[in-house]
Amino acid sequence: MKAKLVRTKNLTRLWEVVEAIKSASSGEPRLGLIYGPAGRGKTRAVDHLAAKTGAVYVSAARVWTPNAMLKCILAGLGGTLTVSAADNLTRAAEALGERLGVPSLGNGLLIVDEADYLAKGAQPPNTPPLLDTVRDLHDASGAPVLLVGMDGLAKILSRFAQFWDRVRMSEEFAPLDSGELIHLAGELAGLSMDEPSAEVIRRATHGNLRQAIVHLARLEAVAKAQGSQKVRPEWAQKISAEVARGKLRASGARLKVVK
Ligand SMILES: Nc1ncnc2c1ncn2[C@@H]1O[C@H](COP(=O)(O)OP(=O)(O)OP(=O)(O)O)[C@@H](O)[C@H]1O
Ligand SMILES: [Mg+2]
Repeated sequence: MKAKLVRTKNLTRLWEVVEAIKSASSGEPRLGLIYGPAGRGKTRAVDHLAAKTGAVYVSAARVWTPNAMLKCILAGLGGTLTVSAADNLTRAAEALGERLGVPSLGNGLLIVDEADYLAKGAQPPNTPPLLDTVRDLHDASGAPVLLVGMDGLAKILSRFAQFWDRVRMSEEFAPLDSGELIHLAGELAGLSMDEPSAEVIRRATHGNLRQAIVHLARLEAVAKAQGSQKVRPEWAQKISAEVARGKLRASGARLKVVK
């Protein structure tokens, strides 16, 4: 399997959100949101975005305090850290502000992956401290900020009015369709896949990109053993059954107690 990034419809969705928050003027709401279930390709897409544009990328962690988050962002910006959270906020906002209008530095774009951690442990009307700090940074710097997280993220964030009011655009990463699977098979494994085979994989994986890659890697091995690059629907059936059986074993669902 090749390690290359394949163009998917979700990449186009990501660029639309980024364009929307980048093209808004500083002072307007410039928060964007990308969300979707595990394995839809969110992290790979924003990693690519950061590499291509020079935007700052950080990945949130369960142990983050507001100051730990600010230090991580400041480090990504090449700034000098201090012990004081208030000073780190000022420094990070200034460093982001200086990047506005600099295309090679992402025009100040900040990307926060695993953003579900920002909203943990608070119920409205109390807002989570990490979310408040992202809002403070957004307001003080005027920079566009993209949050990336799981499928429930938009719903959770919408409960915090002051934060949600600043969200300009929000897009869900969709499951792969069979056309995209055919394209992925060709690009990543050099396989030619017909619609019925793609449909088998699509149903087995529910359009999950990570699982689709697992299937394609196995299909590639079968194709090599068979000496043909043309995927047959029965190979796809066999492989999706095998993957499902392997997962059941891994979860212990098929294990029997040996007496
Ligand atoms: N456009 C792409 N082209 C090729 N491979 C991709 C693409 N997008 C994602 N992948 C691969 O699919 C797998 C899952 O992607 P990724 O980790 O980005 O998903 P995710 O949505 O961030 O998942 P999670 O919610 O579990 O963090 C990874 O192995 C990644 O390299
Ligand atoms: Mg991820």
